[in-house]
Amino acid sequence: MNTVIIGCQWGDEGKGKIVDLLALKNDVVVRFQGGNNAGHTVVVKDKTYKLHLIPSGILYPGKVCILGNGVVIAPDALLQEMESLVQAGHSMDSLYISERAHVIMPYHRAMDALEEKIKGDSKIGTTGRGIGPSYSDKVARCGIRMVDLLEADTLRKKLRSVFLSKEKIFQAWQEAWPFSLDDLVEKYTSYGKQLQSHIVDTSLLLEKLLKQKKTALFEGAQGTFLDIDYGSYPFVTSSNTLAGNACSGSGIGPTQIHKVLGVAKAYTTRVGEGVFPAELKNAIGDTLRSQGKEFGTTTGRPRRCGWLDLVMLKTAIRLNGINELCITKLDVLKGLSSIQICSGYSYKGSRLESIPASDEVYQKIEPIYETVNGWNEDISSCISFSDLPKNCQEYIKKIEKFLEIPVTLVSVGPERNQTIEHS
Ligand code: IMP
Repeated sequence: MNTVIIGCQWGDEGKGKIVDLLALKNDVVVRFQGGNNAGHTVVVKDKTYKLHLIPSGILYPGKVCILGNGVVIAPDALLQEMESLVQAGHSMDSLYISERAHVIMPYHRAMDALEEKIKGDSKIGTTGRGIGPSYSDKVARCGIRMVDLLEADTLRKKLRSVFLSKEKIFQAWQEAWPFSLDDLVEKYTSYGKQLQSHIVDTSLLLEKLLKQKKTALFEGAQGTFLDIDYGSYPFVTSSNTLAGNACSGSGIGPTQIHKVLGVAKAYTTRVGEGVFPAELKNAIGDTLRSQGKEFGTTTGRPRRCGWLDLVMLKTAIRLNGINELCITKLDVLKGLSSIQICSGYSYKGSRLESIPASDEVYQKIEPIYETVNGWNEDISSCISFSDLPKNCQEYIKKIEKFLEIPVTLVSVGPERNQTIEHS
């Protein structure tokens, strides 16, 4: 059984811990989109791992970890992450990187900063990792791929034509262009050499593994509402974050996917700019931020916090074909006398059927809330659903009823064992 794990909100749903947990029961873990804009925190005993690119499956010996063709890779960041994992005693022998994955070059990071500067007040609030510009070059057919790092002459030829256009853009904006063709060729072919044994045709590798009846976990990065097509455009990331992209981002067909597990936080958070109907710009939002340690794994930015938004979750279920849900960070809601759940949107006095495509309209909708009772008990050591306080159980049941799918996992703390299976 091959499973896709998808975030149902704006990223940071706690997928890393769930992937880590499920990696134990699978043989292969695959990333299929995004880059080192993602950030996964995984706590194993007394060690905290912050991973940005490498799937958290790497923490188990022998699991095959794949960075698929849909991922954009900053080789410098990848090598650093590999090095820190090796230092912590993990082997990189079964890490594979698609030869077709696009590379994030230093000029992509510079371009990311420049584009944000040009946008001014309308900036996206990107992670600054060069993700958008790298995907832009991929679509514009002037990207550099991992395979290009293995051949100096090819890399030089491709970079020469990139330099011709990009240098002019920087000059036009009176920005410095501090890149030298020779330096880049030298540095990036050196990265290629260091990564050579990991760079393969990962589609072929996956096919072989699946034929051997190995099971794969496809790890979505970011979240449903950062999707380039269905997210709150333009305040989105530059890839398709939806489950469907697990196929084209890793070189397999849809018949190979058997289950889609959605992961949602018990409340909502967002980093960067953009619409957030259930946002709490008050003391409750501050409490959620401090109790939930809601600061970005990648950029350290404070996350905006708000109530759970079931309209978003219902939409995420449709867009991804989610059959089961995992609710994370339920322990963070402790101590609130009442909790609100957004169960509808109203616009100009009418209830909306779905999320509006227009960001301008979405900004103006009013959330419709239902109020439920909170709980005061610390639930972080609960090991079964029946251990949870009654109001806490009711909260989960309400989510299941509204969404019409089962919540099969509930996470009550960052540790692997702080996870309740619920049938
Ligand atoms: P980019 O992906 O760096 O281009 O950023 C685009 C938007 O996606 C910004 O609002 C980022 O804050 C957001 N974003 C990108 N990656 C993540 C993530 O892993 N978690 C949460 N937000 C993210």
